[in-house]
Amino acid sequence: MSARREEILKELGLWPVWRLRSGAGASPQEEGAAAPSNAAPASAPSPPAKAPALQEVPLPLDDRRAAIARMDWRELKAAVASCTACPLHKGRTKTVFGVGDEQADWLFVGEGPGADEDRQGEPFVGQAGKLLDNMLAAIGLKRGENVYIANVIKCRPPGNRNPEPFEAGQCEPYLHRQIDLIRPRLIVALGKVAVQNLLARDASIASLRGRLHQYRDIPLIVTYHPAYLLRNLPDKAKAWVDLCFAVDAMKRLQSGENFPISS
Ligand code: URA
Repeated sequence: MSARREEILKELGLWPVWRLRSGAGASPQEEGAAAPSNAAPASAPSPPAKAPALQEVPLPLDDRRAAIARMDWRELKAAVASCTACPLHKGRTKTVFGVGDEQADWLFVGEGPGADEDRQGEPFVGQAGKLLDNMLAAIGLKRGENVYIANVIKCRPPGNRNPEPFEAGQCEPYLHRQIDLIRPRLIVALGKVAVQNLLARDASIASLRGRLHQYRDIPLIVTYHPAYLLRNLPDKAKAWVDLCFAVDAMKRLQSGENFPISS
């Protein structure tokens, strides 16, 4: 592999993803090694060349994190679209990168794609998405207009189960880079998986609502996930309170007012 190609793949966090399994299938000529002493005489018919066996070797997480943290939007989208860093890539139809205004004040973060999102490649397009769109409309917001919507996980977990810690860990640098690039004024974490990832806390949503938290230096509000609200209708009233709180916080943040951040 040329040094330039290797450099580009490293920059994209995609190297060394594919390597020859040691000793498997590679011909001595390819590897530049000396011919083995028991090589067949030149006149003997040579066996058909075997395709080199490839094995996935993900970059260590710290190296991936560092590579992803330097990406621009184009590189980040390409890296997510071709990501094979966890087993979820095997079952996906499409990756679900995120959608909206890349300079939005508002960032809503969900968990991961369901069946509809996996088919369409866009977050929150199923039943939970309809509810999220209605929640946005209720506070005068619209998908794509000063709003960005993303998930912690970019590939659908089978049967819509929660992501495993390894899967979330591999995917998390993408979301964190999205946040760095967007620099939203306010993040709304939708449900437990978003909270676990962005606040590194395992507390209940009920115990975290109604206060302003912080992801790095960005204010963050916690509320229920729309899919949870579809199953627990009485809690919609609480989500409405959270949205009103978010609107109030945004007004204060836009006017440069100080806002107490909870620890
Ligand atoms: N639930 C999520 O958390 N995200 C989606 O994109 C869809 C459903």
